[in-house]
Order: sequence, then C-alpha cells, then structure tokens
Amino acid sequence: MSKDIKIAITGVAGFIGSNLAERLLAENYHVIGIDNLSYGVKEQIPNGVEFYLSDIRSKDIHKILNGVDYLFHLAAKNCISDCQKDPLETVDINIYGTVNVFEAAKINKIKKIIYAESSALYEGTNKFPTPESEVYPKSFYSISKLSSMYFAEGYSRFHNLKFTALRYFCVYGPRQDYRRTIPPVFSSFIIKLLKGENPIIFGTGEKRRDFIFVDYVNDFHLMCLRDDRTTGKVFNLGSGYNYSINEIYSIISDLLNSKIEPIYMPDLPGEAQETLADISLAKSLGWFPKTSLIDGLKISIEYIKNELSKGLI
Ligand SMILES: NC(=O)c1ccc[n+]([C@@H]2O[C@H](COP(=O)([O-])OP(=O)(O)OC[C@H]3O[C@@H](n4cnc5c(N)ncnc54)[C@H](O)[C@@H]3O)[C@@H](O)[C@H]2O)c1
Repeated sequence: MSKDIKIAITGVAGFIGSNLAERLLAENYHVIGIDNLSYGVKEQIPNGVEFYLSDIRSKDIHKILNGVDYLFHLAAKNCISDCQKDPLETVDINIYGTVNVFEAAKINKIKKIIYAESSALYEGTNKFPTPESEVYPKSFYSISKLSSMYFAEGYSRFHNLKFTALRYFCVYGPRQDYRRTIPPVFSSFIIKLLKGENPIIFGTGEKRRDFIFVDYVNDFHLMCLRDDRTTGKVFNLGSGYNYSINEIYSIISDLLNSKIEPIYMPDLPGEAQETLADISLAKSLGWFPKTSLIDGLKISIEYIKNELSKGLI
C-alpha cells in the first residue's frame, strides 16, 4: 500500500515541489514537505501534505526525516542572476544545505534520494542536443549544482546512499513562480499580456530554450521511485525541442489574441545562449514527454486566468 510509504520533498512550496506533492498524494503516498518559504508560498502546498516550516541548512531536518522512505530534494537558491549577486548565500543553500540533506538521508537510512541538478550545467557547451556527459558549468548557480553531483557520488561511494540526479531544462506549468524579481518567461508573459501590460524580454530574445511541461517531469519522478534502472544515474528532463524567447512570445500573443509589444531590456549575466536536451537516456527507460508546447501553454494560461479572477495575482 503506497499510503505506508513516506516520501519527503524539500522545496514543497515551490513550483516543481508543489506539483510533485499533488501527484504523489494522488498516487496515495504519505507526503512530508519541507520549505522555509523564502521563495515558495504556503497556500500552494496541496492539502494532505504534512508540512514543516524548516530550512535545509538546519539540523531540524535530521529529525523531520525520521521514518521517511524516499526523499526528493528540490529546495535551492535557483535564480541565476540572484546567485551571481550573492555567491556566499548560493554556496550556503545549494552546497551546505544539500550536503545537510544528504547527511540527514544517511542518518535516517532513506532508501533513495532524488535530487535536482539543472540544464545550467551545460552553459559552456556547443553540443546540441546536449547529452548528460557535456558538463561545462559557468555561473555560480551551476557550479553549486555541480557540487551536489560530486557529493551525491561521495555519499553513494562511502555510505551506500542511493540517488537519482535530474537535470531539468525549463520546466513550465501551473504554479510556476511569477513572484520572483525575474519571473520565468511563460508566467511573466501570460500575466503581463492578460493584464494589458508590456512584457519584458532580456537581451535580443534570440536565446533558445528547451521547455518541458511539469506533468511529464512528474512521470519521471514516479519512475525514480519504481524503476531501479534510474538508480545511480543522472537524467536530462527536457522535450528535445527548443524555441527562441521571441518565438515563445509570438505563440503566447497569438493564443491570447494580443498585439501588445514586449519591452527589450539589457541581457542577464551568466545565462546560456541555447539549451536543448538530448533525452535518449530517459527515453531508453520508456519515458517520453507527450504534451505539445501549445497544449501545455493552454493549461498554463487557464491556470493563470483562474488565479487572476480570484485576485491572487
Ligand atoms: N523550474 C525549472 O525550470 C528548473 C530548471 C532547472 C533546475 N531546477 C531546479 O529544480 C528545483 C526546484 O525548482 P522550482 O522551479 O520548483 O523552484 P522554486 O523556487 O519554485 O522552489 C524552490 C523552493 O525551495 C524553497 N527553499 C529555498 N531555499 C530554501 C532553504 N534554505 N530551506 C528550505 N527551503 C528552501 C523555496 O522557498 C521554494 O519554495 C531547484 O533545485 C531548481 O534549481 C528547476
């Protein structure tokens, strides 16, 4: 019975964490959530999650994780430009915090930890689509994520801690964080256009990104719990297609019948020109993303319209 299986999520109040919690509850797992609410929002933690307001850098999590079977570690300082501005806090949260989570997993004999790396690890590559081997981090954010990889391998080597590492590309869907200083393009474009305001594009808009709908990321999360072939490996989770930010802008404008022009601002430091996932490894296990960009966008638009109508945005 999955109700007897306890699964913890760090970063449960965030975008991917809250969507994952909803999916795990639907699959009847007992879900424990940890978040310090620095970026995440308590209201978006699904009902049914046993929630702990705590910081991944705190020793409290060693107690909270007592009796947990599986752990998804998603909490992070994850805006590239914020990390560029504050490398010390980036190290504190993304390296110290992550090692504290691994340590808690070791102490509590957790069966497996599934944790978030990022497509940002490929910032310096010229190989597209990019396989998992092409690791060339440049920004402080991706350097901090690379450290997680070495520590996960160390905990596996010295303490037999099982892990799966996930390199998400640009994940989108309901509850994508729109409150941060520089919100992700999908939610920021949709919100601004629905409000009749001019969305902002940083740089020329010619950067290309591989976007993946959150439900398909969750399909892979479930495989990590159920399929041992995922253990000890790192997987790209993208769609295998990419679009320029200008192309995304015109697709969203068309879907919303909007003629509003974007405002172009100076480029953001540290970001890659292009991302495109080679997803052959994840596909070899039987996973593939099914929703087209347009279908996923329509779901995101309906979600944002609903939030706007409730006055939540
Ligand atoms: N969303 C994407 O497209 C994407 C792409 C690549 C990698 N990732 C990685 O996936 C993970 C989840 O991303 P997301 O988009 O859901 O981010 P998010 O910002 O929406 O969620 C992260 C959550 O972690 C929490 N958190 C931050 N610092 C914490 C701390 N010290 N202690 C406890 N909680 C803390 C925040 O409050 C937030 O709720 C992150 O590790 C991120 O780096 C995401």
